[in-house]
Amino acid sequence: MSGLFITLEGPEGAGKSTNREYLAERLRERGIEVVLTREPGGTPLAERIRELLLTPSDETMGADTELLLVFAARAQHLAGVIKPALARGAVVLCDRFTDATYAYQGGGRGLPEARIALLENFVQGDLRPDLTLVFDLPVEIGLSRAAARGRLDRFEQEQRSFFDAVRHTYLRRAEAAKERYRVIDAALPLAEVQANLYTLLPELLERCNG
Ligand SMILES: Nc1ncnc2c1ncn2[C@@H]1O[C@H](COP(=O)(O)OP(=O)(O)O)[C@@H](O)[C@H]1O
Ligand SMILES: [Mg+2]
Repeated sequence: MSGLFITLEGPEGAGKSTNREYLAERLRERGIEVVLTREPGGTPLAERIRELLLTPSDETMGADTELLLVFAARAQHLAGVIKPALARGAVVLCDRFTDATYAYQGGGRGLPEARIALLENFVQGDLRPDLTLVFDLPVEIGLSRAAARGRLDRFEQEQRSFFDAVRHTYLRRAEAAKERYRVIDAALPLAEVQANLYTLLPELLERCNG
């Protein structure tokens, strides 16, 4: 595969969508093909699985059910969008990927990391993101940005401790594999966040061409 697979991670309200657009524009104006996508979702079928995952329901969803749905959507997304784009040489900017599974289903729900790793290997083979941007911010700021958007989804309705575990898991993973991750301070004003992202561009462009 010759493209570049970049994932954006972090809680709701961290600025993933806003900054994904920003990065896409910076790359496209340099003539690079960029594919913007997201998880769970990214294909019509995977977006239907997303609805199942995010819509609050009277029937409690088991944690294993949730984990399997996430990876079912991911299998569809990889085959339908991500792998073809990488094979063409595009840059894929994906809003959440398997780090989110470790953070939400692992950290948040308490599922064993080994179970997630098993499915990661099964569904992805050896495909991993080339670069993961972790948009990090204090839990309360993320929650207030998300709440300002209106009705809370099934994850946003979780307790404070859930979001603390999500944040902690992202930071622990970033710390353990520094070459793959860049932690972005997402609590800064947007202009400063984007100035920081801008400094990553030379590295991204070099990796696109190399
Ligand atoms: N650095 C920032 N400072 C203040 N507000 C921000 C910042 N980044 C994003 N926002 C705002 O917070 C909200 C959530 O941003 P969004 O990009 O949708 O986050 P995400 O996709 O991570 O949930 C939006 O209203 C956006 O304009
Ligand atoms: Mg978003």
